[in-house]
Amino acid sequence: MKALVLSGGAGTRLRPITHTSAKQLVPVANKPILFYGLEAIADAGITDVAIVVGDTENEIRQAVGDGSGFGLDVTYLRQEAPLGLAHAVLIARDFLGDDDFVMFLGDIFVFGGISDSVDEFRKERPDAQLLLTRVANPSVFGIAELDDMGRLLRLEEKPEQPRSDLAMAGVYLFSPAIHEAVRAIGPSPRGELEITDALQWLLERDRDVRTTVITGYWKDTGNAADILDVNRRVLDLIEYRVDGDVDENSEIVGRVHIDAGAVIRGSRIVGPAIIGPGTLVEDSYIGPSTSIAQDCVIRNSEIEFSIILRESAFHGVRRVERSLVGRNVRVSVGPRVPVAHRLVIGDHGRVEFSS
Ligand code: DAU
Repeated sequence: MKALVLSGGAGTRLRPITHTSAKQLVPVANKPILFYGLEAIADAGITDVAIVVGDTENEIRQAVGDGSGFGLDVTYLRQEAPLGLAHAVLIARDFLGDDDFVMFLGDIFVFGGISDSVDEFRKERPDAQLLLTRVANPSVFGIAELDDMGRLLRLEEKPEQPRSDLAMAGVYLFSPAIHEAVRAIGPSPRGELEITDALQWLLERDRDVRTTVITGYWKDTGNAADILDVNRRVLDLIEYRVDGDVDENSEIVGRVHIDAGAVIRGSRIVGPAIIGPGTLVEDSYIGPSTSIAQDCVIRNSEIEFSIILRESAFHGVRRVERSLVGRNVRVSVGPRVPVAHRLVIGDHGRVEFSS
């Protein structure tokens, strides 16, 4: 069995972070979201993986390399434009050959991995099997309608009037039957070759398309609030580990992970939280559900329930909450007069002042 991981596309909903970087590489607990998917694939006993990439190919190649760090053998497939999930299957035909495969969207998070579903698929070998999850906002997902017995009746991509709250979770197990389907369908109204349409095509031909409803935590990390929520969930599981340098005037409370090379001076850190290598936290408070990446400087500041990407600096800022801050950002207090906010913010940035 092989794996096809989709990491092309444009991350419009995560702008401006994704102006300069791939949305699949936004870190959760200081680790790119994509890495959790690759680990889940490795845990399921799959080693042969192709990653579909687009404009952010170089960055993804740099982060994942040849996959050996994950115990995987990774090939990259360039998709010239985000022409749809079924288009990604089309361009992967040579790589996939006639093997079964799992298709995994690079920007989703599935708590508990995919091993059980992969094992079930290997045993039963239906034509296709989809992971479904209940969502509060079904009209922004691919939606499945099941009958009373739990059999799949119909699939629809982002329906205006959803027939259920069961969304396709972005993990699909396929036999080679999918190849005929992706060749048969045409573009959807949004101009993409939809995997949902390919699956519906199989269903209409009485092929064996099954579903598994997952009950564990799942998230499509489409926007900042979702990323912060995944970060909170992942941090809830981290273990206390202090490898960095913490002075005697600092207090570490709860499950806090401080990497080697981090320096904490005169600060209070309340977990769950993670502080990356090379980061200095001085005279500051870092509160629960916060990930500070490597090489940041936090001075005289308070930060809680936030993700700060690498090489960013906060000086004299209190208090920052529910924030997703990109790389190499400077946040500080300006001169006393005139009393004014001074901003240099990229396109699509968002700022909320407390006054
Ligand atoms: O998150 C689950 C949802 O994912 C499903 O419920 C939907 O049925 C499915 O269509 C998909 O919807 P999204 O609108 O969230 O897909 P998105 O455009 O965000 O793409 C998902 C991933 O696939 C993302 O990592 C980018 C990558 N991608 C996307 C397209 C359209 C590609 O690599 N190539 C593409 O052509």
